[in-house]
Amino acid sequence: MADSSVTITHDGTGKSVQLPTREGTAGTPVIDIGSLNKSFGHFTLDPGFVATASCESKITYLDGSAGLLQYRGYPIEQLAEQCDYLEVCYLLLNGELPNGDQKSEFDHIIRTHTMIHESLRGFFDGFHYDAHPMAMMTGVIGSLSAFYHDSLDINDPGQRMITAQRIIAKLPTIAAAAYKHSVGQPFMYPRNDLSYTGNLLHMMYAVPAADYEVDPIAEKALDVLFTLHADHEQNASTSTVRLAGSSGTNPFGAIAAGTACLWGPAHGGANEAVLRMLDEIGDVSRIDKYIAKAKDKNDSFRLMGFGHRVYKNFDPRARIIKKIAHEVLATYGNDPRMELAMKLEEIALVDEYFVERSLYPNVDFYSGIIYRALGIPLEMLTVMFAIGRSVGWISHWQEMVSGKMRIGRPRQLYTGEVQRDVPAIKKR
Ligand code: SDX
Repeated sequence: MADSSVTITHDGTGKSVQLPTREGTAGTPVIDIGSLNKSFGHFTLDPGFVATASCESKITYLDGSAGLLQYRGYPIEQLAEQCDYLEVCYLLLNGELPNGDQKSEFDHIIRTHTMIHESLRGFFDGFHYDAHPMAMMTGVIGSLSAFYHDSLDINDPGQRMITAQRIIAKLPTIAAAAYKHSVGQPFMYPRNDLSYTGNLLHMMYAVPAADYEVDPIAEKALDVLFTLHADHEQNASTSTVRLAGSSGTNPFGAIAAGTACLWGPAHGGANEAVLRMLDEIGDVSRIDKYIAKAKDKNDSFRLMGFGHRVYKNFDPRARIIKKIAHEVLATYGNDPRMELAMKLEEIALVDEYFVERSLYPNVDFYSGIIYRALGIPLEMLTVMFAIGRSVGWISHWQEMVSGKMRIGRPRQLYTGEVQRDVPAIKKR
C-alpha cells in the first residue's frame, strides 16, 4: 500500500497543494483531501458521490468493471454455493467464517432472539391494513430502540454485538407481522426449531387453524437470496446507516433510516418496480416501445432492474439469481414474466444506448420473479431485501462505531442570494 501524493495547481492563482494518496489492498486508490480546504481554500463537489470515498472499510469489495463481489475476501459465488445466510452474517460481523462450534452457537443465538416484545406487536394495530409493509418496517424497526435501554451503549462491544444479533433475529418476525397485518391474519410466533428462512416462511404463511410444512425449495432459495443481498459496500442505504449512526444515535434508529432509504425505486424498491414494469409491458411485442421510452430523455421511464453506479459489467448477483429463478420456476410452474424479462435483457444488451452506458441487469432484475413464485406479494419484495441487507447495515455501523468515528457533515457550493437587508413589508 505504497503511499505517494498528487499536486493540484490553481491555473488562476498559480497556488499549488500537495495531497497524499492512499492505496487499499484492492481497488481504486484515493486522494486524501482532508487538508484541501485549510491549505488550498477549496472544497470538492461530487453530487451523488460518484468518485468520492466516504470511509475506509474491510467488509466488502466490489470490482465494477470485472463484475466481482467479495464479502471479507470470499467471492459471492462461493459463499452462495457453500454457506448459509447465518454463516455469511457471522462472516460479515466478525471478519472470518465460523468453525463448527461457532456456527452452532451463532445459529442458537439468532434462533433464540426472534421474538419481539408483546407491546411492539401492538404497534401494527395503528397501521391501516393497506399500509405498505416498508412503512411498517421503517416505523417498527425504529421503535426497537424504545425496548432495549439496557443495550444502547454504542461504545460497549458486547452491547453492539447483542444489538446486531437482535437486528438479524427480529427483522423476519417484524416483516412477517407486517405481512400478517396486511392480510388480516393473526401473527404467528417464531419457532426455535426452524431454520432462519423456514421460520420466516412459517411466520408468514402458517395459520393457527392448520399445520404448515416449510417447503425446502423455498427455504433454500430465500437463504441464497438473503446471502446475495447481505452487503454491497457503501450503497445508498448503508451510507445512510453510517451517516445517521455517525451522530452517535442508537443503532435501531440508524437501521430504520437505512430501511427508509432502501425503499426508494432507485435502490431496493427496484425489485417491486421491476415486476410492475414487466406487468405494464405485458407482452414481448411491446418491448420495443418500452426500450424506446427508456432511451427517451423526455420520458421519465427507466428500465427498472437495469444499470448500476458501480457495476459496468454484469452484476454477479444477477447471474446467480437468474439461475435460481429458472430452478424455482421449474418447480412451481412457469411465470410469463420470466420469458418477458429474458427477452428484455436480450434486446437491451445489444442496444447501443445500453451498451454505450454499460447498463446491465442488476440484483433487482430477476429477484422479484423468484419471490413471486414463492408466493411473496409484490409489496413485500423490498422487505425481503431489507431482511437480507440488515446484516450489512449493522456490520458497517459496527465497523464505523468501533473505529475513530467523526460525525458526517458534508459541505456545499453555495449559489444562493448574497447578503441583503430585510425590506419593510410595505416595500416588498
Ligand atoms: C440497487 O449501490 C448499490 O450497490 C445498490 C445495490 C445494492 O446492493 O445495494 O446494488 C442495489 O439499488 C440496484 C439498483 C436498483 N435500481 C434500479 O434498477 C433502477 C433503475 N436504474 C437506474 O435508476 C440507475 O441505473 C441507477 C440508479 C441504478 C444508477 O444510477 P447512476 O449511477 O446515477 O446512473 P445515471 O442515472 O447517471 O445514468 C447514467 C446514464 C444516464 O444517461 P445519460 O444522462 O448518460 O444520457 O445511464 C442512463 C441515464 O439516463 N440510465 C438508464 C438507466 N440507468 C441509467 N436509462 C434507462 N434505464 C435505466 N435503468
